[in-house]
Amino acid sequence: MPEAGSVLFSTKPEKIENSMTQIARQVSQFAQDVKKGLTATPKYLPSKYLYDVNGDRLFQRIMALPEYYVTRAEYEVFKFQSTQIIRQAVGREPLQLIELGAGDGMKTQLLLTELLKRKVDFSYYPIDISSNALKMLSQSVRRLIPQDFPMLPLQGDYFEALNSPQLKSDGQKLILFLGSTIGNFSAPEAAAFLARLSSMMERGDKLLVGFDLKKHPQTILNAYNDKQGVTRDFNLNLLTRMNKELGANFDLSQFAHFPVYDPVQGAAKSYLVSLKEQEVYCSALRQRIFFKAWESIFMEVSQKFDMAMIQDFAHQSQLRIVRSFTDSRMMYADVLFEKS
Ligand code: TRP
Repeated sequence: MPEAGSVLFSTKPEKIENSMTQIARQVSQFAQDVKKGLTATPKYLPSKYLYDVNGDRLFQRIMALPEYYVTRAEYEVFKFQSTQIIRQAVGREPLQLIELGAGDGMKTQLLLTELLKRKVDFSYYPIDISSNALKMLSQSVRRLIPQDFPMLPLQGDYFEALNSPQLKSDGQKLILFLGSTIGNFSAPEAAAFLARLSSMMERGDKLLVGFDLKKHPQTILNAYNDKQGVTRDFNLNLLTRMNKELGANFDLSQFAHFPVYDPVQGAAKSYLVSLKEQEVYCSALRQRIFFKAWESIFMEVSQKFDMAMIQDFAHQSQLRIVRSFTDSRMMYADVLFEKS
């Protein structure tokens, strides 16, 4: 099913071969990363592997959970402040609107609509490692917005995609990094990430980053510990993925999902905890993995921020804060930075 106007889903034979070698490379990278994480002390798994097709589906359900306020808070910001955001963010045209990580299009749709209303000359470049996520995003954006405009999905690593020749232009870039994905980095990683982004921006380019803010610890913990257990299933899905793709034999009933929130660090962290002493075999790694009773696997951090932390980021990475846009309950901030 080739997609019109997309560079990604071509079915030319050489493209298929390329994508097969690409998949092989991704599998072995997955295997290597799993081996590294599960033989380390303490054990961990890189959270980027949570997002396979099934993980994407579970994540969609997380976004609709009553406890998961993050997506709704950011949606509220865009719903009521897109006009101001676009007014402050757009200078030179043509504008390249670049989104790091394909969301579900619900929030971006509001910015795109505002750009169309103001007749800004722009192109939209969603970037994601997952071609599945990009495909779902393109379809949903086309469904939500009747007008036609240039949309050019780029599959791959953020920085490689940002360096691609298509993105060289005399105009201005507006880079979006939404959903508090920045919080899924450790603090030093987040600072390094922003500094690297900044180094690829020209004077006047803008960056809009979504930050989930510190708030009542219980509200935060509940968001990562929903009653229906969708967040648990999302984390356990990585064990299922290893069973399927790496020939492992994890028994999901022998691992508990355990999220914690530390109000000192402002970090929500989730773990899978082994309920007994057990051994798992992974055939792709030709490796046995031992778990002591109650040994944990660290899955993911979700850092919460305050304005002082955000200002520190700006200072460290040659960015100036133009303005921050918060929701009515001050739960969440979309911060507009300019390269100075
Ligand atoms: N970046 C978002 C957050 O930290 C979304 C997210 C990533 C998430 N991993 C998650 C949400 C795991 C719930 C559970 O909140």
